[in-house]
Amino acid sequence: MVWIFLGPPGAGKGTQATLFAEHLGVPHVSTGDLLRTAVKAGTELGKKAQSFMDAGNLVPDDLMLDLVRETLAGRTGCILDGFPRTTVQADALAGMLDEIGLGLDGVVRLNVAEPMLVARIASRAEAEGRADDTVETVRNRLRVYGEKTAPLVDYYRGQGVLNDVDGEGTIEEIQDRIRSTVGSGGDS
Ligand code: AP5
Ligand code: MG
Repeated sequence: MVWIFLGPPGAGKGTQATLFAEHLGVPHVSTGDLLRTAVKAGTELGKKAQSFMDAGNLVPDDLMLDLVRETLAGRTGCILDGFPRTTVQADALAGMLDEIGLGLDGVVRLNVAEPMLVARIASRAEAEGRADDTVETVRNRLRVYGEKTAPLVDYYRGQGVLNDVDGEGTIEEIQDRIRSTVGSGGDS
């Protein structure tokens, strides 16, 4: 069982993927969380990734693919949050899943208007102080999403696995929408 959560910064990928993973009883894999842990621990990966993350740019594909390959090894399923983010990553993921004998169940794309994305991140900046939640970096993260990651919407729509979900409302409302959308087989 493999689901991908797709959406811009602040769309609620982490919040919703965590709940969905609990619901399905499979692990939640957030590449952003894995990278932040690596930065904190000062690992080789963390040292290489930090400057890209602090600027709101994508960490290079080769580093991400090594990380995800390692994380997926031996798994029978997962909810991917924040990966893939480029078509290179999406093609590589398809190959990796093939190798380990897993299929992609579908993609949940969370739709949230930009002012709400910015507002959610601003309140997290105040509460948690995540290093890349500054106003300028958020602007770049949104730009990078539009340029590098948004093309995955058509990529997965073309494969008939895209599920569009309204990502505005309460956390519970959105989770209910996700479950009823994917429960109906997908490609809404
Ligand atoms: P990543 O950690 O993936 O950050 P992001 O995509 O910018 O997304 P966020 O985590 O900010 O938002 P989210 O959609 O998870 O929303 P959340 O649930 O937190 O990536 C960080 C960096 O790592 C990247 O910039 C890049 O450098 C690197 N990276 C990661 N993956 C990579 C990859 N594959 N390739 C290359 N580089 C990669 O919600 C946001 C806030 O809103 C929270 O405070 C939450 O509590 C709140 N909230 C959520 N839902 C609601 C709601 N319904 N109502 C009110 N508040 C809500
Ligand atoms: Mg997140």
